[in-house]
Amino acid sequence: MPFTIAIDGPAASGKGTIARALSLTFGFHHLDTGLLYRATGAKGGDPVAAARGLTPEDLARGDLRSAEAGQAASRVAAIPEVRAALVVFQREFARREPGAVLDGRDIGTVICPGAEVKLFVTASDIVRAGRRAAELGADPAEMLIQLRERDARDASREAAPMRPAEDALLLDTSEMTIEAAVASAVAAVRVGLDRR
Ligand code: DC
Repeated sequence: MPFTIAIDGPAASGKGTIARALSLTFGFHHLDTGLLYRATGAKGGDPVAAARGLTPEDLARGDLRSAEAGQAASRVAAIPEVRAALVVFQREFARREPGAVLDGRDIGTVICPGAEVKLFVTASDIVRAGRRAAELGADPAEMLIQLRERDARDASREAAPMRPAEDALLLDTSEMTIEAAVASAVAAVRVGLDRR
């Protein structure tokens, strides 16, 4: 049976970095599920048709990491039919051998409620805005406004809102180096693997 790691949390919390590090450490496949929503938003037109018709080329577009693409993703992600169109792909990915790491907002709660390990990665919004601004070469104050808007939308929507699963381990990376955050995540996965 494949081993699934679910990593959720708000934008720029460090969840993507942690997910990539876990996939390398344990030799598991990695899916950044935010990319599915970013590609859907970037396609334009009817978001439901865009989500149903996503192609590998759509996911490889160079402009998906921008702050604008993040906002567009957050808007289309509130549409239940868009989310429904992406469920099967994500669940099939989660079943890949020998294991998979999926990061997003609803992995532990909706996509993979039976995941062997669940992490909810957070950091204060000031810290997250600073990180994202450094990464994109943007203004931290503007990033903070955008992050707050996106977090509020992602957490308050009816369809699969962002929230920690009841059995998720909370990891606040505000005052942690990336190495320390990765080390705690690796330790949590080792415990999960041993328990098996
Ligand atoms: O993780 P990210 O910043 O790339 O995600 C972009 C947006 O996509 C995020 O603001 C909300 C949405 N999203 C979602 O609703 N569910 C997921 N599993 C992943 C992302």
